[in-house]
Amino acid sequence: MDTIHDLKTWQNIRRSKIASSVRVGFVPTMGALHAGHASLLERARRECDVVVLSIFVNPTQFDNPEDLAKYPLTLEADLALAARLGTDYVLLPDHAQMYPDDYAYQVIENRFSRELCGAHRPGHFNGVLTVVMKLLNLVRPHRAYFGEKDAQQLELVRAMVDVFFMDVEIIPCPTLRDHDGLALSSRNTRLAPDDRQKARLFPELLQSSLPAGTVRSQLEKAGFQVDYIVDRDGRRYGAVHIGGVRLIDNVIR
Ligand code: PAJ
Repeated sequence: MDTIHDLKTWQNIRRSKIASSVRVGFVPTMGALHAGHASLLERARRECDVVVLSIFVNPTQFDNPEDLAKYPLTLEADLALAARLGTDYVLLPDHAQMYPDDYAYQVIENRFSRELCGAHRPGHFNGVLTVVMKLLNLVRPHRAYFGEKDAQQLELVRAMVDVFFMDVEIIPCPTLRDHDGLALSSRNTRLAPDDRQKARLFPELLQSSLPAGTVRSQLEKAGFQVDYIVDRDGRRYGAVHIGGVRLIDNVIR
């Protein structure tokens, strides 16, 4: 497994060492890898000749500086997991390389990115779309793997690739959950034991047949601060805070 910090070095490898007939699979992440990320890497490994993982905690998608400062970093364990899963290249760019323009150029979506999470995290999806566009241009994968856990992100990336005629297949991957139903997330490690216990109520109520308003009030009664519980296009989406940690999830209805 090749670990690459310098993007010029990567671009040279991509140009000169990876033939056009080779199928490249790409998994973009912000690190603190868990079994959800691993499932994306495993699928890429099964379906592609070369697997590329990126780890970059993207500051432009954080609307809350404290959330960015507290984002878990577990690089050594991440690299060990990536190597075990047969990843070929890991890209570890820094901020200066990803944003030589200091974020003067941006990808902006004006509709769906303003709803759900976007309504509560201004600018979040512009940061996501901008960094994903940069990463897809750098890696030029045939297939890029995204989790359904972040369903709004997945939809926005899919639509961006469509409207900008980008030559990549976006592959949706199912949400991996803990034994009690909580969707795996890098932020879960920040939950205090009591809050982690309580957190199982979130997927449980989201998946119940109760109306969205009742789910909201039951979560609030249990001590969650609720950003939204919304039914939209056959899915129920939710975002809540517990013990200073924001959790999102969605289920098909
Ligand atoms: P991150 O939260 O690290 O997630 C990387 C990928 O793993 C995303 O596609 C996400 O949907 C997927 N993922 C996370 N938890 C999952 C789970 N429990 N089951 C299945 N897949 C899961 O999402 C991002 O990073 C960033 O926004 C990024 C796309 C890298 C841009 O910065």
